[in-house]
Amino acid sequence: MAQTIGVGLIGYKFMGKAHSNAFRQVAHFFPDLALRPEMKVICGRNAATVQEAAQQFGWQSYATDWQQVVARDDIGLIDVATPGDIHAEIAIAAAAHGKHVFCEKPLANTLQEAKDMLTAVQKAGVVGMVNFNYRRVPAIQLAKQLIDDGRIGQVYHWRAVYLQDWIMAPNFPLVWRLDKSVAGTGALGDLGAHIIDLARMLVGEITTVCGMTETFIKQRPKLAATAGGLNAQAGAEMGEVTVDDAALFLARFANGAAGSFEVTRFAKGRANYNSFEINGGKGSIVFNLERMNELNVYLDDDAPEVRGFRNVLATDGGAHKYLSAWWPAGHIIGWEHTFTHGVYDLLSGIAAGQSPPASFEDGMRCQAVLEAVTQSAAGGGWVEPDYS
Ligand SMILES: NC(=O)c1ccc[n+]([C@@H]2O[C@H](COP(=O)([O-])OP(=O)(O)OC[C@H]3O[C@@H](n4cnc5c(N)ncnc54)[C@H](O)[C@@H]3O)[C@@H](O)[C@H]2O)c1
Repeated sequence: MAQTIGVGLIGYKFMGKAHSNAFRQVAHFFPDLALRPEMKVICGRNAATVQEAAQQFGWQSYATDWQQVVARDDIGLIDVATPGDIHAEIAIAAAAHGKHVFCEKPLANTLQEAKDMLTAVQKAGVVGMVNFNYRRVPAIQLAKQLIDDGRIGQVYHWRAVYLQDWIMAPNFPLVWRLDKSVAGTGALGDLGAHIIDLARMLVGEITTVCGMTETFIKQRPKLAATAGGLNAQAGAEMGEVTVDDAALFLARFANGAAGSFEVTRFAKGRANYNSFEINGGKGSIVFNLERMNELNVYLDDDAPEVRGFRNVLATDGGAHKYLSAWWPAGHIIGWEHTFTHGVYDLLSGIAAGQSPPASFEDGMRCQAVLEAVTQSAAGGGWVEPDYS
């Protein structure tokens, strides 16, 4: 009989819902799970709405003070699904109470906070994992396997975009994602963190970056009433947008590869377009989240008469990571499954006493790249990320 661990989740909206689903599903689909989660408590600031969330998402209880939650004896794992301004405070307090920490991306709002969080989990000897969920798309795991096995040869190019369009209307209000004091950065940290993490996983460490950021709409209506999510209502008063709407940067990798990254919230028609292409000496790989079960692959090794890009449906439990837990080959999975896979790896890591990737070290390194891009965009030319 597997042991159990009590979970406390801080934040109950978008990511709160996605994480709750993962904790509910994981033991039912991964029978080899070494540590089963007990969904003890979900926490937010508004008692009425967090109580509703507890009921809807399947938590045993609710709370309104995260400081009490991180101190509870029946909790072994704290899941941080709040905006970035409070990641560090919650994670450091949780680690000090000896709790393992699962934290949403980007790890923090500043590099210093990320370093402090890494130190806190190391000092406490607890697991610290960042939810870079795209690592756990089976097709992206296949890309990693092909690269690690040398199937595309030496990697020369990484080319990634993450495009959205949800704030293009000039009267879209000043939600927390447009406020530097809460979000840290705009598209750069929100979307760029994901593709930086994928680049680090698939290509390797980034040694230097050169970038620009742009804020196309500099003033927007303040929020009408309560702070909302993606569907927030505008009020009459105007306020400053203090983050970037878009960021573009070039990167050099330690292995000699060259990379380009583009992230924006101003790409009309692109709701959540996360795509990359990798070119190696012997082949190329293309991924697009809108077709997340597929990997487009070109291999020089193919016979000349059939050589060309092929579309691999990465849904075979025998050949593709995580899929044996789900359905027969060809029965596709969705975005929410990446969270269940993450929670599976997290709980397995806690049972084994190891932080699975993306660890807080990975999160700190991603943060160092984000900070280097910010410095470069402010006029710094090429900047080396500070991984110290
Ligand atoms: N991995 C992904 O694909 C993905 C997608 C979206 C967001 N995120 C990340 O998840 C985090 C949360 O984003 P979201 O979209 O869920 O935001 P959201 O606005 O939908 O939800 C934020 C939640 O945090 C709670 N909260 C805020 N301050 C709090 C405090 N002081 N104490 C307790 N609760 C507090 C809010 O009440 C709310 O429940 C961010 O770091 C974001 O970058 C990750």
